[in-house]
Amino acid sequence: MSTASSQTAYNYKVVRQFAIMTVIWGVIGMALGVLIAAQLVWPELNLNLPWTSFGRLRPLHTNAVIFAFGGCALFATSYYVVQRTCHTRLISDSLATFTFWGWQAVIVLAVITLPLGVTTSKEYAELEWPIDILIAVVWITYAVVFFGTVIKRKTKHIYVGNWFYGAFILVTAMLHIVNNMELPVSWFKSYSLYSGATDAMVQWWYGHNAVGFFLTTGFLGMMYYFVPKQAERPVYSYRLSIVHFWALITLYIWAGPHHLHYTALPDWAQSLGMVMSVILLAPSWGGMINGMMTLSGAWHKLRNDPILRFLVVSLAFYGMSTFEGPMMAIKTVNALSHYTDWTIGHVHAGALGWVAMVSIGSLYHLIPKVFGREQMYSVNLINAHFWLATIGTVLYIASMWVNGITQGLMWRAVNQDGTLTYSFVEALEASHPGFIVRMIGGAFFVVGMLLMAYNTWRTVRVAKSTEYEAAARIVEVAHQ
Ligand code: HEM
Ligand code: HEM
Repeated sequence: MSTASSQTAYNYKVVRQFAIMTVIWGVIGMALGVLIAAQLVWPELNLNLPWTSFGRLRPLHTNAVIFAFGGCALFATSYYVVQRTCHTRLISDSLATFTFWGWQAVIVLAVITLPLGVTTSKEYAELEWPIDILIAVVWITYAVVFFGTVIKRKTKHIYVGNWFYGAFILVTAMLHIVNNMELPVSWFKSYSLYSGATDAMVQWWYGHNAVGFFLTTGFLGMMYYFVPKQAERPVYSYRLSIVHFWALITLYIWAGPHHLHYTALPDWAQSLGMVMSVILLAPSWGGMINGMMTLSGAWHKLRNDPILRFLVVSLAFYGMSTFEGPMMAIKTVNALSHYTDWTIGHVHAGALGWVAMVSIGSLYHLIPKVFGREQMYSVNLINAHFWLATIGTVLYIASMWVNGITQGLMWRAVNQDGTLTYSFVEALEASHPGFIVRMIGGAFFVVGMLLMAYNTWRTVRVAKSTEYEAAARIVEVAHQ
């Protein structure tokens, strides 16, 4: 670290705020996941009320984990990384503060409106038009703060992590604005400007790239900073990281139609989506290997560094889900997997194994630094969290693979006279044990998150904001 950074007081306040909210929203969003998983085991838990029904709580879960937990993790880490790698403070404290409160307001509005049944019914874009406008304003402000800081940098070079964060911010703005073009008919209801197959195409161009840019590219920015930092090794191949970046963003944008196989979408578009998805395996694995190989010469650290374990295992799950995804994009495989729990297993291999694990590892690295502590209160608790999260994820995805393949095979089985061998309810009955195992896996994951919340609280509770600033600077200087 150069002297430039030690002389610059960074804006850590906004990083601290987003970091704490990541943990809080993580606990809430994942507890909601366990609740809806339990509803699939015991339907009585829907309580016969519209507000607590699976159909309303499911989008609340997805919004809470993706945009509240994942979003806060991305805000916290991107603000931290951009300042440290550009050796400069964020361009504007007040705009950064606005993004924090604006984003929390979006989440609270989601928590109120979704259980009330106010929804556009577009998956991952359920929020109604007034909230969409607020999201656009907050996001554009985020872009101004992030890119303004990059422009103001005191370094010559723009570190590769910032390229990934930058692409995630730009593309998310574009996706959000294009997919949410809608005609309001009242304060709580709007209709999409697109119709029919065009609407589906735009929606899954959005949906898939929300995965590609929100749940992947942003978190790769995180990976490129926190893996080398925690391993205390430079990125394995900087050249590969640049190739990884350009290949990933060039390919991802075309793969959306794999969500619409065998639908009214023109066949050529489906085939194009399939081919692009299969090619996407290459840059995804290039990035995964680059992250893994960064540990060359530091593998021994895994023995007693649970934070590094979180980061490495997240890369393993990233590799796994980006192998599985291209396979599922092949039309004949998708014919079996689509509509089944296999998709849900794939989602959570990415969401729990990759997104949550890389965020958790990065936060354990970041929290002590921005609160001016040497390290987290308890390393043993981090270790316990690591095992709970890993076992929880494995239980979740293994049970969904079994369920998915069982469902796919039972649905397509036909008797000699052409009638269906199994009724839908029989396939549902066969899925019940898998639902129970998934719920247990989810509960493991949430217990781990509760340990993280306790560990974080014990790490940060003593000091006031001004004391954090002073302590953070002392810790930083000590590490020069
Ligand atoms: C304790 C952890 C979690 C549990 C128990 C859980 C549980 C669930 C359940 C039961 C569903 C509905 C499945 C269905 O409709 O059949 C679901 C959907 C979903 N969850 Fe989670 N979840 C957890 C964590 C997460 C995290 C951390 C993320 C993202 C970062 C996430 C993202 C999603 C998404 C995107 C869907 C929708 C999938 C689709 O439509 O294909 N979940 N989750
Ligand atoms: C090369 C990378 C990837 C490819 C080609 C890919 C491909 C696919 C395919 C084919 C589906 C099933 C579509 C369907 O039958 O409806 C799917 C669903 C999904 N994938 Fe991936 N995937 C990749 C990586 C990831 C990662 C890393 C994550 C999460 C962090 C993820 C999250 C999701 C989600 C949330 C869905 C469910 C969407 C929905 O129906 O609601 N994917 N993916």
